[in-house]
Amino acid sequence: MPSKAKTVWYCTSCGNETGKWMGRCPACGEWNTIKEGPSRDKTSRSRDRVLVNVSDSEPIPLKDISVEEDCRITVGSPEVERVLGGGIVPGSMILLAGEPGIGKSTLALQIPLRSRGLHTLYVSGEESPRQIKLRSMRLLRKEEGDTEEGCTVLGETVVENIIRYARECSPDLLVVDSIQTVYSENIDSAASSVSQIRECAAELLRLAKESGIPVILIGHITKDGSIAGPKVLEHIVDVVLQFEGDTRHSHRILRSIKNRFGSTDEIAIFEMTGSGLREVENPSEILTPLHGESLSGVAVGSMVDGSRPFLIEIQALVSTAAYGMPQRSATGYDARRLNMLLAVLEKRAGFKLSAKDVFLNVAGGMRVSDTACDLAVVVAVLSSNFDLPVSPGICFAAEVGLSGEIRPVGRIEARISEAARLGYRQIYISSYNLSEELRRSIPRTGIQIVEVSDIAALCRRLFRAEE
Ligand code: TYD
Ligand code: MG
Repeated sequence: MPSKAKTVWYCTSCGNETGKWMGRCPACGEWNTIKEGPSRDKTSRSRDRVLVNVSDSEPIPLKDISVEEDCRITVGSPEVERVLGGGIVPGSMILLAGEPGIGKSTLALQIPLRSRGLHTLYVSGEESPRQIKLRSMRLLRKEEGDTEEGCTVLGETVVENIIRYARECSPDLLVVDSIQTVYSENIDSAASSVSQIRECAAELLRLAKESGIPVILIGHITKDGSIAGPKVLEHIVDVVLQFEGDTRHSHRILRSIKNRFGSTDEIAIFEMTGSGLREVENPSEILTPLHGESLSGVAVGSMVDGSRPFLIEIQALVSTAAYGMPQRSATGYDARRLNMLLAVLEKRAGFKLSAKDVFLNVAGGMRVSDTACDLAVVVAVLSSNFDLPVSPGICFAAEVGLSGEIRPVGRIEARISEAARLGYRQIYISSYNLSEELRRSIPRTGIQIVEVSDIAALCRRLFRAEE
């Protein structure tokens, strides 16, 4: 009688194996993610263990381990290098994760094209070499010195073959697009299943550590995170870069979520154009008003994302509710926070907004989560409500509390200097934000600081309105 193939239960979100079906994964806490699948064979388990043991397994004193100075690989894009912490570390594995269509393949293909002669093996299981050629023709900026030289394309999905080719031609960089399409012949489950992804990533990591070839893995994630993969990989790889943004807008943010060789505070902003991704060095310049004359319902707030402060335009539209029940809608901003700010305006500052529709929008498809933008939101709403524009040279950086008080925010110095750099005349901040030392250094920045402590004072100053 043929022996029955052994099956196990595992979580499709984190890959945790359990002995039986459960409603909730005990490891990651996700519901309804436990599925039945074939057992991973013994050899694959022992191979996992080899991972750590990549070179001589003798203990070495830390002071005796030698590394070459400045051995990072440049990628032809200062912004990507900054997010990576100064370039790619040889032998490292980077996961580039993002939703489908966000521009991961474009970003990965731009690296060999822009970095002049970096010998790259670009393995694609998603597009044919011809499609990649067509894409590269769009991305190539000849006048800037981009070159196709050194980039080799391979249409392959079997991980053993990819590794064999990589060892044969030993490139400076290996790109695998995407980890979901790659599979190992040693495992009999479908490509993109948790065990396949884990096994293939482990094989590629072994290649990276043994040969020193850095690997960029591209991984898809969906909005609800339902496809297993990147979550399983996060603890295997050295660096996790997340590429995010709204595909209806052209701006994209590259964020480092994990980095063994640098800070996770860095972000880079890109704009998707007809000829690929363009680096945006001065985000504030594209996210703040371009119109010369001032419009009502627009206010500029200061937000910090990663370690960078930038200024962003917040737009509000307040109108009389036409259909009884007032509507509140926010794009790029937390709707609950908007409701809270409206309640504060109603209760603490006496503005009658309960019978009004309020729409809020953050320019450029950005998402704001920094509470320092509260003041700009409040000003945009009031400006639209009174139909009084705010003068274009003014920006705001403060949080609004539940009793209508204007509260201090962190990194105020950086915010003030960014506003001054962009030529703003005035910045409104909380009265409690400035230390004596800061106060003395302000005249040098050339921007006027207006300190406000509550919404009533803000309105008197800005709109000269009765509260
Ligand atoms: P792509 O890199 O294929 O996304 P991913 O690999 O993350 O799935 O990019 C997809 C989008 O980018 C696609 O909708 C078209 C757009 N795009 C441009 O606007 N300009 C370009 O030069 C390229 C190559 C793509
Ligand atoms: Mg792609």
